[in-house]
Amino acid sequence: MGVAGSPRCHGNTDILIERALKGAYEGGADVELVRLRDLSIEHCQGCNCCFDAGECRIDDDMSHLYQSLDEADVIILASPVYFSGLSSLMKQMIDRCQCLWARKEVLGARIGGLGRTGALISVGGQNPPAFNNSISVVKSYFNSIDVEYRAEMLVPAVDEKGEIMNHPAILTKAYDMGVSLVTELR
Ligand SMILES: Cc1cc2nc3c(=O)[nH]c(=O)nc-3n(C[C@H](O)[C@H](O)[C@H](O)COP(=O)(O)O)c2cc1C
Repeated sequence: MGVAGSPRCHGNTDILIERALKGAYEGGADVELVRLRDLSIEHCQGCNCCFDAGECRIDDDMSHLYQSLDEADVIILASPVYFSGLSSLMKQMIDRCQCLWARKEVLGARIGGLGRTGALISVGGQNPPAFNNSISVVKSYFNSIDVEYRAEMLVPAVDEKGEIMNHPAILTKAYDMGVSLVTELR
């Protein structure tokens, strides 16, 4: 499963996650790409209602996403660097997974199957951008949903829309990351 967290259509994040999922698909996986900008997702309200049964009381596009996040063997999150962190689209999705955190930490359940892995793709315009904040949030998130942080692809100094197309070696690395994440599962 790939989650694309840039508001910019056909931008660098979109291109990289699409390459990674192409690799995963050609490596033998069933793939799903979710573009967060196309979904309607409310903010977490911090109501803690999810502590009772591990379910979020907000009825929006997260309902489908919870199921996908639960079923995925591999989750790749892709976000541009925005003010030295994840995009707000990505952070909002992560915050709404508080109910999965509650399932695990409050109710003692496992999230998903055994051996789940994940990766972060991030692209920033500066050289070097601050990737550390995003890495830290994604590691914390993956830990909460029983996903092992297995790989990362951090791309500096790519700013213009679609500029990543000028870097064929990076595109190949994204494809290869997709292949290896699924072949490692076997
Ligand atoms: C609101 C905003 C904040 C940004 N903040 C940073 C930043 O802190 N560091 C950085 O290196 N690039 C920053 N950038 C540049 C983007 O990371 C860069 O343009 C990236 O290629 C965008 O990816 P996309 O094409 O997938 O949207 C920012 C861009 C925007 C629009």
